[in-house]
Amino acid sequence: MAERILVVDDDVESLKLIGMMLQRQGYEVILASNGQQALDRALADRPDLIILDVMMPVMDGYEVCRRLRQDPITQHIPILMFTAKTMVDDKVAGFEAGADDYLTKPTHPAELASRVKALLARRPAQPAQAPVMTNRSLVWGFLGAKGGVGTTTVAANCAAALVKYDTTILADFRLGQGALALSLGLMRATGMANLLARPTPEITVRAVEGELVTHASGLRLLLSSSRPKETLLNAAPDGAAAIVRHLQAIHPQVVLDLGSGLSRLTARLVLELDRLTLVVEPNRVALILARDILAELQQIGVQAARLSVVLVNRTQSSLHVPWQEAEHMLGHEVAAIISPAPELVFQAAEAGLPVVLYQPNSIVGTQFAKLTEEVIARR
Ligand SMILES: Nc1ncnc2c1ncn2[C@@H]1O[C@H](COP(=O)(O)OP(=O)(O)OP(=O)(O)O)[C@@H](O)[C@H]1O
Ligand SMILES: [Mg+2]
Repeated sequence: MAERILVVDDDVESLKLIGMMLQRQGYEVILASNGQQALDRALADRPDLIILDVMMPVMDGYEVCRRLRQDPITQHIPILMFTAKTMVDDKVAGFEAGADDYLTKPTHPAELASRVKALLARRPAQPAQAPVMTNRSLVWGFLGAKGGVGTTTVAANCAAALVKYDTTILADFRLGQGALALSLGLMRATGMANLLARPTPEITVRAVEGELVTHASGLRLLLSSSRPKETLLNAAPDGAAAIVRHLQAIHPQVVLDLGSGLSRLTARLVLELDRLTLVVEPNRVALILARDILAELQQIGVQAARLSVVLVNRTQSSLHVPWQEAEHMLGHEVAAIISPAPELVFQAAEAGLPVVLYQPNSIVGTQFAKLTEEVIARR
């Protein structure tokens, strides 16, 4: 696979020129025209090398360099500072900020090529703190077709069922409506809001790790509280996406409670998922909402193969739409049907445990375990 180089320069002409030179030498090139974009791309694309211009408005190259070095995800990436300046002082400042090498503009293509080659060769074979992507990793999101259909219950139970396979984090993206924390017997959990209140570059792996709490089940949790004012937080979708990526770096299995319907935040988060399960109640209203959400999800780029549908029957009713008809209405197969178990779900929540741990051999306990097993088998 071609090595990937991120080139950062506010001057579009020089960006294109350097990009072209590198492409001609067989590298894959990503371009960014300001500091924030550079940080975002570095996190998202994990380049093998970053070529960074020093003189940029708003956030200069030194600052970008410092921030890259602070984040465990990006701190190992070699940085080649690229600038029009030739002063010795600037070189010192660059090295102090964490640059690995320095190049002055204008540069001969041959010199650029040899510096790039040397830096790539010096790179450690396996960066110590970067996440190791193995086929064990799984990011699984749960989204309700509408509110109150059982999304949190399904998410918490599948997460608890995952613990058997590997360490697992369950994260609640429903700010200010922390029903998940309450159903697991935890109060005053504000980890998610603490993180989303920060500017995106300050949401580092270390910051995320500091907000995790451990549940008696072994699940690690990133929780939202029940303080209504959290709902007013104007959280940046990119910050939320960074949280998900950091969670993945901490533990290989990550489960997200995305609440119901699509929002600015969830529309961004669904793009980070290996699997997205839409939770639906088998009634006409929920099914129509689900059908529209499925269409919208595919439109914003979620592949159909990553999507699954789970029907939750919270009550016994002859008025429920039969599953074959539900499949027909949705144009999508149903992966699992969860039976009604109001008392059991209630008792488990009173005990602060998901059903799969409270009564693993119950009908719904088995249904959650099987749904999880199938996702594990397919990852
Ligand atoms: N299989 C089930 N049988 C009976 N009741 C259930 C079942 N699953 C969940 N419930 C109950 O349904 C209610 C809603 O569940 P839950 O909080 O999981 O839904 P939600 O979709 O996450 O809601 P919200 O939109 O408020 O986040 C809860 O009272 C829960 O106890
Ligand atoms: Mg919920």
